[in-house]
Amino acid sequence: MPHSVTSKQVGTATLSYDGKSAPLPVLAGSLGPACVDIRKLQGELGVFTFDPSYGATASCESSITYIDGDAGILLYRGYPIEQLAEKSTFLEVAYLLLFGNLPNTAELGVFTNGVTRHTMLHEQIRRFWDGFRRDAHPMAMLCSVVGAMSAFYPDSIDTQDPRQREISAYRMIAKIPTITAWAHKYNAGQPFVYPRNDLNYSENFLHMFHAVPAEPYTQNPILTRAMDRILILHADHEQNASTSTVRLAGSTGANPFACIAAGIASLWGPAHGGANEAVLKMLAEIGHKDNIPAFIAQVKDKNSHVKLMGFGHRVYKNFDPRAKIMQQTCYEVLEALGIKDEPMLDLAMELEKIALEDEYFVSRKLYPNVDFYSGIILKAMGFPTTMFTPIFALARTVGWISQWMEMIEDPQQRIGRPRQIYTGAATRDYTPIDQRG
Ligand code: ACO
Repeated sequence: MPHSVTSKQVGTATLSYDGKSAPLPVLAGSLGPACVDIRKLQGELGVFTFDPSYGATASCESSITYIDGDAGILLYRGYPIEQLAEKSTFLEVAYLLLFGNLPNTAELGVFTNGVTRHTMLHEQIRRFWDGFRRDAHPMAMLCSVVGAMSAFYPDSIDTQDPRQREISAYRMIAKIPTITAWAHKYNAGQPFVYPRNDLNYSENFLHMFHAVPAEPYTQNPILTRAMDRILILHADHEQNASTSTVRLAGSTGANPFACIAAGIASLWGPAHGGANEAVLKMLAEIGHKDNIPAFIAQVKDKNSHVKLMGFGHRVYKNFDPRAKIMQQTCYEVLEALGIKDEPMLDLAMELEKIALEDEYFVSRKLYPNVDFYSGIILKAMGFPTTMFTPIFALARTVGWISQWMEMIEDPQQRIGRPRQIYTGAATRDYTPIDQRG
């Protein structure tokens, strides 16, 4: 089970308002800035705090992932992402995120066996696809099918039962590759390929995604490794929009499948997981290096609402460490596939170079994020653009379920319920319709 480091009081901040003062505890965790605990503020001073988009608010204590956005550091359970990306497998990372420590050989064997034995979907779930249009976006299919899982696995939706929570975690991690691959097969008009338990996690996903019954599918170890690395890099990222969505939905006691479906919906947006798809669209629209200056001018024009996709991050004000690993993986994949000149990559590198020197991006600390390169790798590996965000969702499922489990086990957990500053009409009396102007 996750070992929680509970924050400690390291000081007191005093807030004064309207002739009254409130001493507020200042809390610190194991790393990162201290936080003012404002839970008693309303009782003491009669005021709330205002923080739309939560840029200055910690919503929970968590011992899973740590980001230092200024230094470009990302840790899973204390381990630097660079070490995990180089040395571990995705299932090892999944175990680490879920249970708090890297598994020993026996623990990894039991975990792998558990995940492997849950990869098939209830056969009735197949029929869901018949209801979708052939051109349905795969994120729409993911969202619906994952939400529907609560109707198929009702034996693991009691959120108060630790054993059921664990089974639903296994189910989610094991079945999401099957759902993701089948969403693609439905779009492509190809037969669904069933999971194969003799393959590892990434091999199994690539097999279900790319194989057709007409010929054998051969795994390329460099691509399998790249797939595993992409999954590791996307596995968790502290309290981002989709994870916070999962936690907020989960705080009501909603079942885990419904919560993950909510996370998938939140990830879909182009400001979040949809950015990898948007990067490729952007590169295609730019088309040629010669068009970069005009595109950059458009991005800098506030009236255009055009953004440089794959750049910028709410927390990273330095290079996203995942982007560096992605760039390296990108070269490895292109070499393994014998792709010598990839115009998209050349264009992306030129765009990155120009943006990193431009005062607009430098002054706003806008650097490439994980999605800047992931789309190019996924495209080279034969994934259609619409599958980029579903693959992100596949990877992030382990983060979502780990954060959901941590939340349920947190004794401080209550239903999430933000307040507001009301700016509407003050109290007024009902006017009969014939007296309204
Ligand atoms: N292109 C151009 N300008 C940008 C970009 C960008 N990609 N990102 C931020 N800015 C500008 C903003 O317009 C703002 O300018 P201003 O101060 O003159 O008004 C300034 O930089 C600060 O940006 P915010 O919007 O305050 O940053 P915020 O934290 O709200 O947004 C976000 C972060 C959503 C990631 C944003 O940078 C963005 O939209 N990036 C492009 C989409 C993208 O790549 N998303 C993936 C994020 S990583 C992930 O989810 C895996």
